[in-house]
Amino acid sequence: MSEHAKLPQDLDPDRPSGARIYDFFLGGSSNFTSDRMLARRVLAVAPDMRRNAVANRACLHRVVRMCLAAGVRQFLDIGCGIPTIGTPHEVAQRLDPSARVVYVDNEPVAVTHGELVLAGNPNAAIVRADLRDTEEVLTADATRRLLDFDRPVAVLMFAVLHHISDRDDPAGTLRSYLAALAPGSFLALTHLTADHAPEAMRAVTELLLDSQHPGTPRSKAYLESLLDGLELLEPGVVPIAEWRPEHGDADLATAAPLGYAAVARKP
Ligand SMILES: C[S@@+](CC[C@H](N)C(=O)[O-])C[C@H]1O[C@@H](n2cnc3c(N)ncnc32)[C@H](O)[C@@H]1O
Repeated sequence: MSEHAKLPQDLDPDRPSGARIYDFFLGGSSNFTSDRMLARRVLAVAPDMRRNAVANRACLHRVVRMCLAAGVRQFLDIGCGIPTIGTPHEVAQRLDPSARVVYVDNEPVAVTHGELVLAGNPNAAIVRADLRDTEEVLTADATRRLLDFDRPVAVLMFAVLHHISDRDDPAGTLRSYLAALAPGSFLALTHLTADHAPEAMRAVTELLLDSQHPGTPRSKAYLESLLDGLELLEPGVVPIAEWRPEHGDADLATAAPLGYAAVARKP
């Protein structure tokens, strides 16, 4: 983003944000000097982080297509980030223009961009909210207007739950969302892990303390426990590039994966 562009009023361009660092990894331009500096420090200790981000985005696309193939036409994308090429509404509405997508984020650049990108799209909207306030997310005007919770909804929580600390009870937050969903709904998530590259992830976690979005990497066993009571889809909780890879996705695999992906269905 040009440092002279018109900025949202409550933006702090000097404090790196998870949304903008991730945008930098993906090759976007909606980031500031502070974001790029921290992102480069992250890449110095974990060079695979950029590949992990690209794999994450590709996995998001696969999951949206899988949900559509399973008959789900409603998406709640929580912690959606800054819209880049191939946002879920583009992927979904290309296959079915009537697919409905509600995005949620609490980062001003993500929300401002989202509003611009979605202007004039009757079937998609963005809500500015903190995902920990499940009530606010679920009762927001756009959520109520676009999503019918009597029918299955796919909740997408890609690369966001690791920004919720243990103190903020990620399991309880997930339970609140799940309670609102009809049977046949999906919960899909990706999450940073230290299972394969503990030293690199420790260094990344330390660096992210300097950002607006510190991270808590979590283990495969922890993520499986989060999905307890749901039907975990094959292939289970696996490195992101290994979640039902399609042509070319295998190239994004790394020797020491930095994140897991999983999709589960509400019985
Ligand atoms: C790494 S980005 C992931 C973007 C997108 N989900 C993807 O995977 O392509 C994480 C996003 O989560 C958002 N986020 C972090 N904590 C949040 C919270 N408490 N409530 C809402 N959004 C949050 C950040 O602003 C950022 O946009």
